[in-house]
Amino acid sequence: MTHAAHIAHLTHASIELMDERDPLADLREQFIIPGGVIYLDGNSLGALPKSVPARMKQAIEQEWGIGLIRSWNDADWYLAPQRVGALIAGLIGAQPTEVIVCDSTSVNVFKVLVAACRMRPDRSVIVSERGNFPTNAYITAEVARLMGKTVVFVEPSEVDDAIESAGDDLVAVQLTEVNFKTASRYDMAAITERVHALGGCVVWDLCHSAGVLPVDLNGCDVDFAVGCTYKYLNGGPGSPAFLFAAERHLHQVDQPLPGWHGHARPFEFVQDYEPDPGIARMLTGTASQLGLLALEAALGVFAGLDMHVVRAKSVALTGLFISLVDTELAEFGFTVESPRDGTVRGSHVSLAHEHAYAITQALIARGVIGDFRAPNLLRFGFAPLYLRYGDVWNAVAIMRNVMTTAAWDAPEFLAKKAVT
Ligand SMILES: Cc1ncc(COP(=O)(O)O)c(C=O)c1O
Repeated sequence: MTHAAHIAHLTHASIELMDERDPLADLREQFIIPGGVIYLDGNSLGALPKSVPARMKQAIEQEWGIGLIRSWNDADWYLAPQRVGALIAGLIGAQPTEVIVCDSTSVNVFKVLVAACRMRPDRSVIVSERGNFPTNAYITAEVARLMGKTVVFVEPSEVDDAIESAGDDLVAVQLTEVNFKTASRYDMAAITERVHALGGCVVWDLCHSAGVLPVDLNGCDVDFAVGCTYKYLNGGPGSPAFLFAAERHLHQVDQPLPGWHGHARPFEFVQDYEPDPGIARMLTGTASQLGLLALEAALGVFAGLDMHVVRAKSVALTGLFISLVDTELAEFGFTVESPRDGTVRGSHVSLAHEHAYAITQALIARGVIGDFRAPNLLRFGFAPLYLRYGDVWNAVAIMRNVMTTAAWDAPEFLAKKAVT
C-alpha cells in the first residue's frame, strides 16, 4: 500500500481497531491519567503509576515514621541504588551489576566523562554534538577545561567526520541517542564501533531512550551511559538518574566525586578513599531515598515487557501523528522537524510553527498536554504504555479546532511561563 493510500484508510473506525489489537492496551490501567487529558508529555515527565502512591505511603508512614533509622537495614534502603539499577539494567541491555541509580543525569555525565578522560590520559579530543541537551554541552565543556582536553561540538551530520579527524587523539564521544528536540536517533552500534576502532570511549545519554526503545548497551560494547528516570521510566519529578559503567572498566573507573557511599567500607569511616570494587564506586553521597523507592515501584509496570513490542507501538503512534498532521493540519503552516523514517525517530515528534508557544498553551487549556521548546517547536511525546491510538486521533482533531478557530491567538496564551 502506498503512503497516500495508507492515509486515505485512516478513519476513526480503523483507529479503534488499532486500539483493540494493541498488545499493550491493558497497561494503561496501571497509570493514573486525569480525565479530560490527552497526555503527550511523557517524554518530559512520565505519568503516575498507580502502584506509587501506596508505596510512598508505606515508605513515609511505616518505614520512615515508625522504622526511623532502622529502615536503612530493615527496609533494605541501603542497597536500593544497586537494586533499582538492576531493574533498569534489564531495560538497557546491561548486566545487573553494571547499573546504579544515583544523583542527576547532569552529575552522572560529569562523573563518567572525567572517568573516561582518566582512562585515556595521553589523548586530547572529546567529540560532542551541537544541539545536544544543554546540560551535556555545559558539562562536557567544563570537563574538557578541567582535564586539559579540547571539545569539538559538531552538527549531528558531522559527527562521523569529527571522530575520524580526532583519530588516535580521540578521548571520548558524548552523544544523546535520541535528540531532545528533533527525536532524531543515532546509530549507537556503528558509532561505538568506530570510536573503539580509534581507541576512544563512548558516553551515551539515554534520557529519551530508556523505557521506550530496546537499548543494547553490552551488545554495542558501550563504555559508559547515563539517563534520567522521570521520563519514560515514570519515576516522578526529579527522580534519581541511572549510570552504566561496563564491567570490563569497573576495576579502573576513577570517578571525580568519590564520596563515602562509593567507598569499599563506608561504615569504617576511614580517612583514605578506597573505591568499592563494583558499580557502587560510582556513588557519592546518601541516596534520595524516597525518590528511589518511588522509582522502584514505578518500574513494576515493565516487568515481563518486551521492549521490541513497546518500540513497535511507539513508532506506530508517532507515525500516525505525523500522518494526521500531514492530512488534517496541512493548511496551518506546521512543519515536521522529526525524522519521517520511524527507524531513526525516537518517541516524540516536534513541529515547527511561528506561534508554537501560544498554540501549545491553547492546547494545554483544552487538555492536550505537550510542551514548547524554544525557539519555535511544539513537542509531543508518545508514551506507548498509556497512550491509545484514539488519543492521537483526538489530539489532532483538537489541534485542528484550535487552528481553525484561531483560539491560540488570545492574550492568556502569549505570556511565557517559567517552565515551558
Ligand atoms: C537528553 C537529556 N540529558 C540530560 C538531561 C538533564 O537531566 P537532569 O536535569 O536530570 O540532570 C535531560 C533533561 O531533560 C535530557 O533531556
